Amino acid sequence: MSVPHPYWLRDNCPCSECRDPRGGQKLFQIGDLPEGLSAVEATRDATGLAVRWSDGHRSHYPTGWDAPAGPDERTEHAKRLWEAADFARGLPEADWSAYLADPEERIAVLAAVRRSGFALLRGVPAEEGQVLRVARSFGFVRETNYGELFDVRVEPDPANLAFTGRAIAPHTDNPYRDPVPTLQLLHCLRNDGAGGDSGLVDGFRAAALLREQDPAAFDLLARTPVPFRYRDRGTELSAERPLIGLDPRGAIREVRFNNRSAGSPHGLAPAELDAFYAAYRRFAAITLRPELRLDFRLGPGDCLLLDNTRLLHARTAFEPGGATREGTGHRHLQGCYADLDALSSTLAVLRRTTAVLDELEALFAGEGSAEYLGEAVTLAAHMLQAATLARAAGAPPALVAAALLHDVGHFRGSGRELMAGTDNRHGATAAARLAPHFPPAVTEPVRLHVDAKRYLCTAEPGYADLLSPASVHTLALQGGPMSPDEAAAFAAHPFSADAVAVRRWDEAAKDPSAATPTFAEFRPMLRELMR
Ligand code: OGA
Ligand code: ZN
Ligand code: ZN
Repeated sequence: MSVPHPYWLRDNCPCSECRDPRGGQKLFQIGDLPEGLSAVEATRDATGLAVRWSDGHRSHYPTGWDAPAGPDERTEHAKRLWEAADFARGLPEADWSAYLADPEERIAVLAAVRRSGFALLRGVPAEEGQVLRVARSFGFVRETNYGELFDVRVEPDPANLAFTGRAIAPHTDNPYRDPVPTLQLLHCLRNDGAGGDSGLVDGFRAAALLREQDPAAFDLLARTPVPFRYRDRGTELSAERPLIGLDPRGAIREVRFNNRSAGSPHGLAPAELDAFYAAYRRFAAITLRPELRLDFRLGPGDCLLLDNTRLLHARTAFEPGGATREGTGHRHLQGCYADLDALSSTLAVLRRTTAVLDELEALFAGEGSAEYLGEAVTLAAHMLQAATLARAAGAPPALVAAALLHDVGHFRGSGRELMAGTDNRHGATAAARLAPHFPPAVTEPVRLHVDAKRYLCTAEPGYADLLSPASVHTLALQGGPMSPDEAAAFAAHPFSADAVAVRRWDEAAKDPSAATPTFAEFRPMLRELMR
């Protein structure tokens, strides 16, 4: 049978000798693998691919382990390139309070920043410093020589044209920094004079248009380092990079464009400078095409998030207003920088969490609606009732979650095995399924809830009488009441009290007439616990 490349495959071995089971970090060095490594035997079955190696190591690759990764998220291939008309039906925007309250809104906003390069949050309180709160809602503020945040308003003695009422042409910020901040936030506190509208241009779109219309000019801009520079009394920053940055395969990955701080390339012959300036002027002209520029106006409370490696932002001129030393003009924005890596991480975690919760919810609605091991309630109703009892008893969220999820080990048909006469070890199964997503305070009581029944039957005279007939039937399969030694060992376990608590709610949660909440009601609590 055909086997992928030996070093490639072995490099991916998921066994606990090769990778730390917690975070999957690799435990060997590439040089540790022997010269001339080969697979001696490879067999594929329903569970995956098993390999015996020439050095005696054995690997097992579960089915689906090699799902291919998508394109580099930062390149044009992962983006939706746009022109102004693409937003004729509205901007990617959300209300700040909805964004805070609803993970789906957060996903939509962060995904828009990644796909389209920007999003607008409305209704962020028009108070100083709020822009930092927005940045911290998904990532980390990148502090610079301008501070944690900077004010954009008319200043009496401006070091930067941004602090006048002049128009600013489409640009990316801080190209003189290395690394450049990959995200910019602009929060509007006040904007009540004439002018001062905002504009955005998709720099990837502009670069792609240049590539279409003048491939030689595109190549030249991608190959020619341009020095960028910023200086003031306490600062002297410089970085040299091409205006168009490509990934190793030639895809557009970064655009730097800032007339205010761009220098001219060094060491080029006159003919090369002719070509460079022709290309530069052509690219600049594309960035100014009206059909590329999305115009809108920031009002108080609006916060713009933009990908500073891709989007160019601009503003129209505005009346300075009664500018004073305190800067009380007509227009006042506060900005800060942050980075895309943390935004992408937050988005991935939100999506991962949503996927896990969706899967659990689907199990409750699907298999969970079937009868529950000879009880008068469904499995879903049983677990929802257990959670309700836990909540009513004032249990902390992790314990409510344990009550809610204690029987997920019965899903996927394994409950039937138990009734048919084999112990399906459903506590351990459930804990193993939940462990990648929930902390031990949730999974340990789940894992131990079967043992808790065996314990209580020994430790509490009369407890066995409370059990339902089905539970008595399964008790025997699960090992019967504990011996005194077993009971003592169980009682010493740090989570035994929690497991016993879950067990008591478990016993009581078999009431066909009890009102039962929906799984959806518990989602926010579960999501909190999953972080
Ligand atoms: C800037 C800037 C935008 C604005 O300060 O670099 O682009 O709307 N300001 O004032
Ligand atoms: Zn700017
Ligand atoms: Zn149960």
